[in-house]
Amino acid sequence: MDIFAHRGVSSHYPENTGAAFYAASKLAITGIELDVHLTADREVVVIHDEAIDRTSNGTGYVKDYTLQQLRAFDFGSWFSDDFVGEKIPRLGEVLELFAGTHHRINIELKTDVFPYDGIEALVLKEIATYQMTERVIISSFNHESIQIVSQMAPYIETAALFAEILIDFTSYSVLIPTNAIHVSLPTAFRKSVGSALETGAIVRVYTVNEIDNAKALQQLGINAIFTDNPEKMLVALRGQ
Ligand code: G3P
Ligand code: CA
Repeated sequence: MDIFAHRGVSSHYPENTGAAFYAASKLAITGIELDVHLTADREVVVIHDEAIDRTSNGTGYVKDYTLQQLRAFDFGSWFSDDFVGEKIPRLGEVLELFAGTHHRINIELKTDVFPYDGIEALVLKEIATYQMTERVIISSFNHESIQIVSQMAPYIETAALFAEILIDFTSYSVLIPTNAIHVSLPTAFRKSVGSALETGAIVRVYTVNEIDNAKALQQLGINAIFTDNPEKMLVALRGQ
């Protein structure tokens, strides 16, 4: 079962920052997961929430700031004094960090609250610039974004995200051009996920931080987990 570092090594570093991704780049895991939003000057930046309040010393929406304005905020001190001065990363900077590694990069398009018109094309451009086509997976809770990506770049691997309800994937996969689903931990144990696996779908599960859950998912034949603590999972699942 593959292991992805969720928002980087977010158990020990401030999520979605260079520090969290650098730590992940040193681990023998499959890859990382990150979240992207669009700034007022149309730069693709890596952050989970629409607003910067929870993970910085600023307030307000990402979409209302330019990249330069966002860079003035501290995205590390909310987590610990050890990370004072950590900046919000551009997507391109994270892709560059992983250019020389084997890791896969799961880019989650956070288009379910603000649509960020055109973000799909901007993300695809960054992927091409850093020659990451073979290593990325683009996912979103907004399945229209997945449609757009697969129309623009059918060669890019995509995944549909589901939080709570998963309808029969066999019929849904006719509507959405992907054979991968990313589902929440409680959803992963539902019969519908077992059926999806039986039809050959790739199923990855978020966010798995307990060893018992990871082992149960491995037994089910789940393809991958997203975890905040990939080092713990490496030891538990692979003895590394
Ligand atoms: O991509 C999997 C997972 O990260 C989705 O939920 O809220 O952590 O972005 P969230
Ligand atoms: Ca995410």
